[in-house]
Amino acid sequence: MNTTIDCRSALYMPAVQERVLAKGPKLAADAIILDLEDAVAPDVKELAREAATTALKELDYGYRIRALRINGNATPWFADDVAAAMQARPDALVLPKVESAADIHALNELMDKQPEAADMAIWAMVESPMAVLNAHAIAKCVQDCPRLSLLVVGSNDLARESNMPISADRTLLLPWLMSFIAAARAYGLNILDGVCNDFADEARLRQECLQGVAMGMDGKTLIHPAQIAIANEVFAPSASAIEDAGVIVATFAEPQNEALGVVKINGRMVERLHLDMAKQLLARADRLAERN
Ligand code: COA
Ligand code: MG
Repeated sequence: MNTTIDCRSALYMPAVQERVLAKGPKLAADAIILDLEDAVAPDVKELAREAATTALKELDYGYRIRALRINGNATPWFADDVAAAMQARPDALVLPKVESAADIHALNELMDKQPEAADMAIWAMVESPMAVLNAHAIAKCVQDCPRLSLLVVGSNDLARESNMPISADRTLLLPWLMSFIAAARAYGLNILDGVCNDFADEARLRQECLQGVAMGMDGKTLIHPAQIAIANEVFAPSASAIEDAGVIVATFAEPQNEALGVVKINGRMVERLHLDMAKQLLARADRLAERN
């Protein structure tokens, strides 16, 4: 499974209650992140590990990406979480609190020894000032560790570690988010935005999703099922974008334009690079439509 594309919505599910985990395959999230880390108290780490393993082995998630967030390298649970992942076989392991390339290499070396992990991706969480400063080195890891496919912004830890309360408009956070996006794009990784804690505030979530789209995020991590529909809507190509793309493809297909590198559409310059983008957008819209 390609774990990086078409992920508009990635829902965290604390791996503590089997009853809640059973909802995963019925929710419209593009990815389900079964969480063994921050949403699970120390006393129930083992229970959560077992519940997540059972869910991943027994449930059919269909098109949804199955991700497992393990505890970080420096914790006492890390080794057992990785071992359980070899049984559970998620599509991606989400490594929290990545601060350096070494954190990713340590997990990658363990995974390289396990045949079960052959197709398993690593998603690296960037959620501290050190990750901001090391974003380049973290993303560059993909050159030695091709299973690294995606960065996940961890906004709650970022706020805590930096002593920066996150405002509704996220103005002061934007430079850090953009540096994560630059690092991801420079090395061909995808990137998911951090969560919006106020799950009852639909307007705030929509605003954050629109901001994420404007920044170039691929999708958003979520904490509550009520957030899925908005993220899916905002991160999908809009009806007007689909219409524009159709016009671009049709215009370049006209016989008089076939040999042209650039055309004019509604007073706007459109180049062949825009044709490529239009084709990609239409293909993505088709793939997403199949899910609905
Ligand atoms: N995944 C799946 N189902 C969820 C869910 C989630 N993340 N969050 C809530 N639900 C379910 C509830 O189980 C409940 O189902 P029910 O009606 O069958 O009992 C339903 O959605 C409505 O939930 P609600 O009562 O509105 O919220 P809650 O009090 O049960 O849970 C939270 C609120 C914040 C505790 C919960 O959403 C949560 O744990 N979110 C994820 C937290 C997390 O993973 N954090 C780490 C990453 S930042
Ligand atoms: Mg965290």
